[in-house]
Amino acid sequence: MIQTLQTDSDNLFFFISSCHTTLVVQKDPRGFVFVPYWGSLIPAVDLGYLLAEIPRASYLADADGCKNFKLEQLPQLYPSYGYTDLRTPAFSFTYADGSRTTDLRYAGHRIYRGKQKLPGLPMVRSSPDAETLELKLHDALQQVDVTIVLTVFAEHDALTQSVKVENHGQAPMKIDKICSASIDLPDNRWEFLHLSGAWARESHICRQPLSQGNVSVGSLRGASSHAHNPFAALIDPAADETHGEVYAMHFVYSGNFLASAQVDMHQNTRFQMGLHPFDFDWTLEEGDSFVTPEVVLLYSEEGLGQMSDRFHALYRDCLLPPNFAGKTRPILLNSWEASYFQFTGESLTRLAGQASNIGAELFVVDDGWFGHRDDTTSSVGDWVPYQKKLGGDLNELIQAVHRQEIAFGLWLEPEMVSPDSNLYRAHPDWVIQAPGRRVEKSRDEYVLDLSNPAVCDYLIDTISHLLATYPISYIKWDMNRNFTNLGSTYLPAACQKEQAHRYMLGLYRILDTLTQAFPKVLFEGCAGGGGRTDPGMLYYVSQIWISDDTDALERLPIQYGASLTLPAEVMGCHISAVPNHQTSRFIPLQTRAAVAMAGSLGLEMDPAAMSSEERAELEDVVARYKKLRPTIQQGRLHRLKGLEDGNEYAWMFSSLDGAEVLVTYIQKRMCPNTITRRLRLRGLKPDALYRAEGEGWVRSGQELAGAGLAVGRVLTDAFARQWVLHRVDHSSKDD
Ligand code: DGJ
Repeated sequence: MIQTLQTDSDNLFFFISSCHTTLVVQKDPRGFVFVPYWGSLIPAVDLGYLLAEIPRASYLADADGCKNFKLEQLPQLYPSYGYTDLRTPAFSFTYADGSRTTDLRYAGHRIYRGKQKLPGLPMVRSSPDAETLELKLHDALQQVDVTIVLTVFAEHDALTQSVKVENHGQAPMKIDKICSASIDLPDNRWEFLHLSGAWARESHICRQPLSQGNVSVGSLRGASSHAHNPFAALIDPAADETHGEVYAMHFVYSGNFLASAQVDMHQNTRFQMGLHPFDFDWTLEEGDSFVTPEVVLLYSEEGLGQMSDRFHALYRDCLLPPNFAGKTRPILLNSWEASYFQFTGESLTRLAGQASNIGAELFVVDDGWFGHRDDTTSSVGDWVPYQKKLGGDLNELIQAVHRQEIAFGLWLEPEMVSPDSNLYRAHPDWVIQAPGRRVEKSRDEYVLDLSNPAVCDYLIDTISHLLATYPISYIKWDMNRNFTNLGSTYLPAACQKEQAHRYMLGLYRILDTLTQAFPKVLFEGCAGGGGRTDPGMLYYVSQIWISDDTDALERLPIQYGASLTLPAEVMGCHISAVPNHQTSRFIPLQTRAAVAMAGSLGLEMDPAAMSSEERAELEDVVARYKKLRPTIQQGRLHRLKGLEDGNEYAWMFSSLDGAEVLVTYIQKRMCPNTITRRLRLRGLKPDALYRAEGEGWVRSGQELAGAGLAVGRVLTDAFARQWVLHRVDHSSKDD
């Protein structure tokens, strides 16, 4: 609900409230716009007293000549550069006369139900509980409009914000920096939480204290990257899964970004998210406009658990492709770790048969099926079947796979090109390249310049042809290198710094066109594992391969971190062979399975290489997962352990109706001579009884939440234990 309140003191307040939270925007008599409050739900009353002047020396000029009125001392909604606020601005523009000062004042607003589309960009979709405030700000000298578009999703307790810039002046201007959201909080008692890592170690939770100055994470790699997810939160240092305040931002964008927190000299914290300003600018001709990608803003007063609940619900209901949202994902077997590049049509058909026997529902042929590709050195870009290797046409292989009663999926890496490819030979100018410099390879590939519309059109045509020709149910959309030596043969010299963002706009156009034209095809995002695990991609792809690391122990912190924002069905989680291909570890199958059952289950191994006992065990795992799949993929996650010393992880999923619960406990390293661990369960109905499958006991929700489950003896490293609980009284609803 968005309420306005005009006060006698000529302040106009906007109370942007969801079921449990409120963000207040205040327009003051001079037309400046502030955010006096963001937090738990409050009523719409005159909050003018919150910004009462407290004179503090800052050696700054006064705004509008009003004594002691300095923007720097006030919490602003969208701070500009230069005008009595010298903290980090949310944006900066350079005008034709060389000036860089922008003075934005309120110029009108519009409130409407729902939410409008962001042209060419992914976004949290409108929903019946959505209401939008468009706040137009204006610089009278330069004739520039900046419109803040804030949507509240009442039932979801979430906000989104994007910003539109319109140049109504007489000359072109440049956007040098543009955040999608900037929030000033009136204290500095926060830790900066982010998800960071590297290839095979993505999405690890990092928390660092704030002190006066700046802290930031970001990407200049052309993708949101393995190093940093475009997610950041300000979190109470004492907060955990169930307690404490959290302010979170998640950028609906897959390219270069910057998330930052700045503590100023008066202990305020400025929290920002947006396009990375380095090596970026954008020319805005007279009459033109620019729209930023949007940020999801979430406030939680009950720790990370409540934050995740809200992200999961929002993304399930309003972000994921509607054709797959709310539907269970198939169990797949991917050929990569089973055979890498070494396969034939016959070996793939045999592998598909094995997959089907084990109970998998989708067989995915990974890299190596096209051009003349037998290793990384060739063919990316030539998306035509490698008939010699496959022993016939792709269609024959697909039919053979279908005869094994399993669906067929394919790997693609559309954004790259091998130097040894027909595509590159025909269009050497289509790759990202700096004039006069060698085009460097990574994994034997160049990056196609998607800022060039002709390249995007080519990819749309080629992939459409592939999907129209063959009965393909699934595409793994991979992307295996970052950008270096940026430069575009298509863009004029003055627009070269637009390339990284234009690349993303090109990619989004391709994905949009393909997913609209082939709505039944399930797309899984991948970028060398989790190099592009962001809500921007999730607008188009229904799941993401969150890491190439398939070692169950290594995946624990990865999955834990990713689950802060991503619901389980979105995370591709595979059981792979032992010894593990990334770590050489031998982990028992039950532990590998328990960890992989925290997401969309896949297999990445050749079942024929296993003993018949192990194969039977795997078949059981797959059957068990199928039974529990709705609870895992549509239910509610509670993380029970993991943030502490990192040796123990535990989590539980409860089904939508609360009648079924799956609890998983993992201990990485066995510790001798310790007491039995207990897991206090969450979200159970206190007065309901729960029966543990195969355990012979029935206990109340109150008991399980208070006293907890006893883990029992842990006798090995990489120990796993799972419990399936059934609520005895199915008629009552969960809390
Ligand atoms: C990187 C991916 O993350 C892997 O799963 C696999 O698809 C390879 N690329 C194939 O080249």
